[in-house]
Amino acid sequence: MSKVISIANQKGGVAKTTTAINLAASLALAKQRVLLIDMDPQANLTSGVGQKGQAASGGTIYDALTTNSPNAEDFVLATGIDYLSIIPADRNLTGAEIELVPMQEREKRLRTITNVLRNRFDYVFIDTPPSLGLLTLNSLVAADTVLVPLNCEYFALEGIAELVATMDRVRAAYNPELALEGVLLTMYDERTNLGQQVSSNIREFFGEKVYTTVIPRNIRLGEAPSHGVPVILYDARSRGAEAYISLANEFLARDHATRG
Ligand SMILES: Nc1ncnc2c1ncn2[C@@H]1O[C@H](COP(=O)(O)OP(=O)(O)OP(=O)(O)O)[C@@H](O)[C@H]1O
Ligand SMILES: [Mg+2]
Repeated sequence: MSKVISIANQKGGVAKTTTAINLAASLALAKQRVLLIDMDPQANLTSGVGQKGQAASGGTIYDALTTNSPNAEDFVLATGIDYLSIIPADRNLTGAEIELVPMQEREKRLRTITNVLRNRFDYVFIDTPPSLGLLTLNSLVAADTVLVPLNCEYFALEGIAELVATMDRVRAAYNPELALEGVLLTMYDERTNLGQQVSSNIREFFGEKVYTTVIPRNIRLGEAPSHGVPVILYDARSRGAEAYISLANEFLARDHATRG
């Protein structure tokens, strides 16, 4: 049974894309079949796995979303990393936010695609843009669960009520089973009291949903995307790489525990 996980937080720069790349790559290293879907017109996920400007025969996620009756298989591109594939994005996706508006079943377009691909993958991760528009809505409608990265700074919880309200709306209208996968603390700086305070506030708010693994601030995580590789292939011994491997282990252990 596969699982579709949307990585969402409408706040910008909280490590949604970094988490998508590095959690996916760490799971692929553990021989899990993983598909990444880039739903952000910035296409940072696509370039972060070295696929900028690339697409499979059907085109990018923009084409997949705006074609009627697309053949989902035609959009899946191998990444060069074993067990890891991607449906890439490019700048065209900016237009989709508006072009989708008059289309039939506009909120369910991505779901139609992911449902077809489920049998080929163990995990599908969808990277979302920093907004709650139609692209994020499509991602939440397609997902079984939502993974929320929060950066350890003062305003970390700002906007979370809006995300939670959007998830409620999606449950009521399209996807009653949508659940919270987990909350991930990112860019943690142990040298500051602020980081510690914020992380304990977040743990109070979300309880056991918060992963034990915390992602530290680590320069290698910021450098790896410019080389088009996940951090485990850029500097496997860095703290950033170790943290995402540990997150992947925690993620798998939780997933197995909840599914029995
Ligand atoms: N733990 C970390 N340590 C240092 N730098 C990080 C860390 N995580 C992410 N970064 C860097 O911070 C920036 C923002 O991260 P990222 O792009 O993953 O966030 P995002 O939530 O996807 O942003 P957006 O909302 O724009 O899509 C990037 O330059 C990334 O390389
Ligand atoms: Mg991003």
